Amino acid sequence: MRLTKYYLPILKENPAEAQIASHRLMLRAGMIRQASAGIYSWLPMGFKVLRRLENIVHEEQQRAGHLPMLMPTLQSADLWKESGRYEDYGKEMLRISDRHGRDMLYGPTNEELITDIFRNSVGSYKDLPLTLYHIQWKFRDEVRPRFGVMRGREFLMKDGYNFDLTKEDALHAYNRHFVSYLRTYERMGLKAIPMRADGGPIGGDYTHEFLVLADTGESDVFYDSTVTDLTFGDREIDFSDRAGLQAIYDEWTKPYARTDETHDDALFSEVPEAQRRQSKGIEVGQIFYFGTKYSEPMNAVVVDDSGQRVPVHMGSHGIGVSRLVGALIEANHDENGIIWPEGVAPFKVGIVNLKQGDTDADAACEGLYKGLTAKGLDPIYDDREERAGAKFATMDLIGCPWRITVGPRGLKNGVVELTSRRTGESEEMSPEAALDRVAQIYAGV
Ligand SMILES: Nc1ncnc2c1ncn2[C@@H]1O[C@H](COP(=O)(O)OP(=O)(O)O)[C@@H](O)[C@H]1O
Ligand SMILES: [Mg+2]
Repeated sequence: MRLTKYYLPILKENPAEAQIASHRLMLRAGMIRQASAGIYSWLPMGFKVLRRLENIVHEEQQRAGHLPMLMPTLQSADLWKESGRYEDYGKEMLRISDRHGRDMLYGPTNEELITDIFRNSVGSYKDLPLTLYHIQWKFRDEVRPRFGVMRGREFLMKDGYNFDLTKEDALHAYNRHFVSYLRTYERMGLKAIPMRADGGPIGGDYTHEFLVLADTGESDVFYDSTVTDLTFGDREIDFSDRAGLQAIYDEWTKPYARTDETHDDALFSEVPEAQRRQSKGIEVGQIFYFGTKYSEPMNAVVVDDSGQRVPVHMGSHGIGVSRLVGALIEANHDENGIIWPEGVAPFKVGIVNLKQGDTDADAACEGLYKGLTAKGLDPIYDDREERAGAKFATMDLIGCPWRITVGPRGLKNGVVELTSRRTGESEEMSPEAALDRVAQIYAGV
């Protein structure tokens, strides 16, 4: 992309309504615009990041054997009356009636709808296990939408639902989600810690929230610092290997890590004092096993191998895709702007032409632009007639992980400069070497 052809409406001033860095930077970098309270339009660069996150989520869910689909945003109230949640959900649910006076709602989640789909088409244990998911906009009429996309009213969520014959099978699905979520966040360059969460009225031990540590998080968290040293790396995972998945689950849940809802002072005091941490976290996902909570009232049953009709065991598993854009920025920025991790950067590399109109500089930039594009390295080329300072400020704000700076003086010696956004370190090298280096960096991402 050439900047002169792009739509990047940068704000020079800090918007007064933004209280936290991610909200401020998303507005300043022209990623989003507020449409109404808690509802945003995603401008091209914001949309690009959102799509990258969606792609990672899709890849990791499908790797785990889960099937993508798409359910609508608008749902009939009838199903929610059946499960009993139409009344329970309260004011967070946006209720609508259509021209025929039918009660509809903008879905805040999809347990009822997916259970209805399941019960209408699955009848035998032989069709199990089954996990379906989609990535779709949700609406929750939050009392206090705030912090931009972090607590919106309309937000994008991946929600997945498993259907299993037994509790044991459903816990295998739980572990598949646990491990696929670890992989997903790590690929995005995020450290999200699974923490034991509150099962709500149904209780049980089977819910974990994944939290990104950040001062601006809304959850209080307590953990053993050793949990932050765990990394997934490039382990080979066989998602059908129950014992293998259980071992990973055990590894991550052994150190103490809980949200305030389940925090236990006595247990926490057993953690060596030097390792005890208390801080704030952003919830970027949650997994849940809830047994037959919906399958019983909604009559989602299968015939088991002895001919009995039994309600299926279910769980639901969410990732806050649009919130993740904010969480990523909270975890990766400095006073000059965003610092995208390589795995999610909207543009992998920026090209800065220090002297637009100079024959040599223009030709070198064009060469790099074409070469990087051909290698799939998605460059953004600042080809505006602007001062170098303004170009650097733009690159820093939008957070390309790598920048190649091209100017007539360097070119006389046959070099350009490759700079890391994160460390600020620069190195001079030939344009060809810079291209190879960038290709090499992204080969492992
Ligand atoms: N208002 C919101 N704005 C943005 N993302 C949200 C919002 N509410 C929930 N999410 C995201 O969706 C994920 C799954 O939602 P869920 O666990 O059902 O939400 P909650 O914990 O708020 O009840 C959460 O982990 C979070 O990342
Ligand atoms: Mg939650």
